[in-house]
Amino acid sequence: MYDINNILRENIKNLTPYSSARDEYQGEASVFLDANENAFGSPLDTAYNRYPDPMQYQVKMRLSEIKGVPARNIFVGNGSDEAIDILFRSFCNPGVDNVIIVPPTYGMYQVSANINDVEVRKVLLTEEYQLNLEGIAEAIDERTKLIFICSPNNPTGNSINRDDIETLLANFNGIVVIDEAYINFSRQKTFIQELTEYANLVVLQTLSKAWGLAGLRVGMAFASEEIIEVMNKVKPPYNVNEASQQLALEALNNVQQVNEWIKETLAQRDKLVLTLKDFNFVLDIYPSDANFILVKTTDAKGIYNFLVQNGIIIRNRTNVELCEGCLRITIGTPDENKILIDTLQQYK
Ligand SMILES: Cc1ncc(COP(=O)(O)O)c(C=O)c1O
Repeated sequence: MYDINNILRENIKNLTPYSSARDEYQGEASVFLDANENAFGSPLDTAYNRYPDPMQYQVKMRLSEIKGVPARNIFVGNGSDEAIDILFRSFCNPGVDNVIIVPPTYGMYQVSANINDVEVRKVLLTEEYQLNLEGIAEAIDERTKLIFICSPNNPTGNSINRDDIETLLANFNGIVVIDEAYINFSRQKTFIQELTEYANLVVLQTLSKAWGLAGLRVGMAFASEEIIEVMNKVKPPYNVNEASQQLALEALNNVQQVNEWIKETLAQRDKLVLTLKDFNFVLDIYPSDANFILVKTTDAKGIYNFLVQNGIIIRNRTNVELCEGCLRITIGTPDENKILIDTLQQYK
């Protein structure tokens, strides 16, 4: 049975978190001489001389409205990459514990594991880019703390079968992390609504993709209150800066614009797929639930280099397991997609 106390690192269980100046008083105050800030202001039009809210209260309240989960079930990080790293630091003892990843998938799970000196057990996706449940079951042992599932998956673009994920959630005694960075583009439902069902579920989302805020570095984890409490204890005190909090809040009030872009991106994706199908160097285009497509070609390296020479950068994934010959192409604006197609027409 899953029990957070069985998987939490002992040093984290016993950790006294950093207590910031603003955490230590209660009541109203107008004179802040507690944090060694510059009391005069900032040499900018906007003042940033005060430390940001360590718990990002306003951003969480707005996210709570949009996502339909209580703020206490939300962690906000310096990108979802920070949430990934914090999960390792909270639950995985370096040199002792292990995690499972299911390649081809997002590269940061492996990198974060390496940084934290945590063993990675790889169970390849099937040829259809779905979970190999038997392989995963065999790879799990009593030191397996986390399983990372990316859905829609990067770089393949497809969603992972929901029933398979639920099988893992119901049977695994550690934490199942579902990375939904591309969920806004997907036909599938988010797993956020399953938080009440599964105590061992962590859903990652980000403002870097559909929300168009990659430069601000704001990502979220949705999980049980006890997991969020641990993550808050482990995170750096002021992990999301004031400018990012303010701008994220402003952006979160403009859902309509984002929804229009999502629609346009999906329409552009369909159009690009139809056009690319006719090129003789395109062997296959995999079904995508994301804002990119994975295209199997006769000569990934040649096409990639040709595009670079013409000032167009895509991602060459040919060296990734199960992605031989594949290029990953992000859906751009109509103009960018046209430049891509016009350039590819000149490729021999
Ligand atoms: C699957 C996936 N998860 C997470 C991230 C990183 O998101 P963030 O910008 O919030 O750190 C990416 C970025 O490419 C991604 O593809």
